[in-house]
Amino acid sequence: MGKSLVEHARSKLLYNELSTVYDLAAFHNTKREAAFLNNIVRRYCGKSIKILDLGCGVGRHVELLHRLYDHSVTGIDISRRMVALARRRCPGCSFRRMDIRKIRLAKRFDAAICMWTTFNYLSNKSDLNRFLDGVARVLSPSGIFILDLKNYSKKGAWCCYSRESADKNYRIRLFIEKKIIKRRINEAIYVYFIRDLRNNRKFLALDQELNKIYGLREVRSITRGRFKVLKVFGDYNTDSKYEARRSDRLILVMRNVNDKRR
Ligand SMILES: C[S@@+](CC[C@H](N)C(=O)[O-])C[C@H]1O[C@@H](n2cnc3c(N)ncnc32)[C@H](O)[C@@H]1O
Repeated sequence: MGKSLVEHARSKLLYNELSTVYDLAAFHNTKREAAFLNNIVRRYCGKSIKILDLGCGVGRHVELLHRLYDHSVTGIDISRRMVALARRRCPGCSFRRMDIRKIRLAKRFDAAICMWTTFNYLSNKSDLNRFLDGVARVLSPSGIFILDLKNYSKKGAWCCYSRESADKNYRIRLFIEKKIIKRRINEAIYVYFIRDLRNNRKFLALDQELNKIYGLREVRSITRGRFKVLKVFGDYNTDSKYEARRSDRLILVMRNVNDKRR
């Protein structure tokens, strides 16, 4: 059995010492992502539902799904610091520090979401089986599972680039190099130049990202028997059909068909 990348995720600077600059460094469009998620769950589940965010990070989706769309949202994450930031960000929601491979929750959910590269840290059979069994168990019968991954089949996904961002506390200049280091493992090196604008201190940080690469066919085969794929999108937009060579994201909307629960 291959090595699990969860241990790597556990030690990543971005989810620990750098967690306070996660939003600024990651450059997401959270409003757009949350609007997309809300569209999907309304279409399949109804108006205000119970949602579980698997690997919720600092709670950016939890916050908007609750505050803008009135869903009752629970977030779980393995990182103590990410969970602490999420709790501060959305006091009206519930958070637990928990490994997504060992989900233990009494509540049942109408929908579960797993956003960005969280799933790509699950890199061996045992990780995947424990995770998918747990999700199937914690979802209500015929509950919806939205699994979002980067689309590594896109041409030119291997690259080197830089970006800058700032808020009232920090200015970040970030250099990123991404490449495949092994068959089906992507490595990204992140060099952060951070200036704390409150005291004009400067920091330099070097972080690594290791992800297991999954394609559509593989995800279909891994999830078969527990989930039925209803739709596949290529971006956070319900009009975006998934195209292997063009889409930025690979987003599967699945229905729970597993009934060996419970
Ligand atoms: C790329 S971040 C995504 C966070 C959030 N979903 C978002 O989109 O902002 C990945 C998150 O997964 C968490 N994570 C990684 N492996 C995990 C595991 N086995 N159990 C729970 N959380 C995990 C990390 O701590 C990190 O917060």
